Amino acid sequence: MQNVRVGVLGSGDVGKVLAAGFASLGHEVTIGSRDPEKLREWASASNRVTAGTFADAAKFGDILVLATLGAAAEDAIRLAGVDNFNGKVLIDATNPLDFSKGMPPTLFVGTTDSLGEQIQRLVPNARVVKAFNTVGNAHMINPQFPGGPPDMFICGNDAEGKKIVTQICGHFGWGVIDLGGIENSRYLEPMCLVWVLHGVRSGSWNHAFKMLQK
Ligand SMILES: NC(=O)c1ccc[n+]([C@@H]2O[C@H](COP(=O)([O-])OP(=O)(O)OC[C@H]3O[C@@H](n4cnc5c(N)ncnc54)[C@H](OP(=O)(O)O)[C@@H]3O)[C@@H](O)[C@H]2O)c1
Repeated sequence: MQNVRVGVLGSGDVGKVLAAGFASLGHEVTIGSRDPEKLREWASASNRVTAGTFADAAKFGDILVLATLGAAAEDAIRLAGVDNFNGKVLIDATNPLDFSKGMPPTLFVGTTDSLGEQIQRLVPNARVVKAFNTVGNAHMINPQFPGGPPDMFICGNDAEGKKIVTQICGHFGWGVIDLGGIENSRYLEPMCLVWVLHGVRSGSWNHAFKMLQK
């Protein structure tokens, strides 16, 4: 893939890991926050990463990443400016986690709708691809497991968008399994909880999904 401009919305671990991952592949990145100041020092470690607002990141990127708290996804997109998503691939790494009853979290939407679908409805002209939501941030880039590369499960309505995200996942060291349209976020988002529950019960966070096939 040629070098592209990437806008990452999210200043948490996922935003930083994916921003650094894109920069390591040679892409130019703007990482966005409501408070860009808190990202300046971190961003200054790379000459390919700049800190800005959510709107700066959304305007800058040809490819966008949504890595905000799930419950804040709509607010972050509105701050970024809905029109800034038009025509762009939007990698949606969010999960609709509800921490109101403590750990482990539950989902605040599911079964008949999903956060992925809500996001696609919010930015109807973006090419939303759900990805990176089923693994912890520590393993998002160059995952190393004895059983070989794990699989990134993705879904989205735009075939070209999924092709681009498949390439990106491949560069980051993943196999990819396409589950179809964005409505299948209904099943991908609960997979996050499978990953979390195994972590809570085993006390280890070094796991990732892989589909065995023959
Ligand atoms: N942590 C993981 O390993 C992991 C793995 C897979 C998927 N995910 C999902 O990826 C997403 C990001 O996770 P994370 O752990 O990196 O960070 P996070 O703590 O879930 O989210 C941090 C981001 O959310 C934004 N945010 C919070 N409240 C907001 C509000 N009211 N309005 C606008 N923006 C708001 C923050 O904005 P500011 O920058 O302005 O503070 C920050 O950019 C989540 O949806 C999570 O479920 C996480």
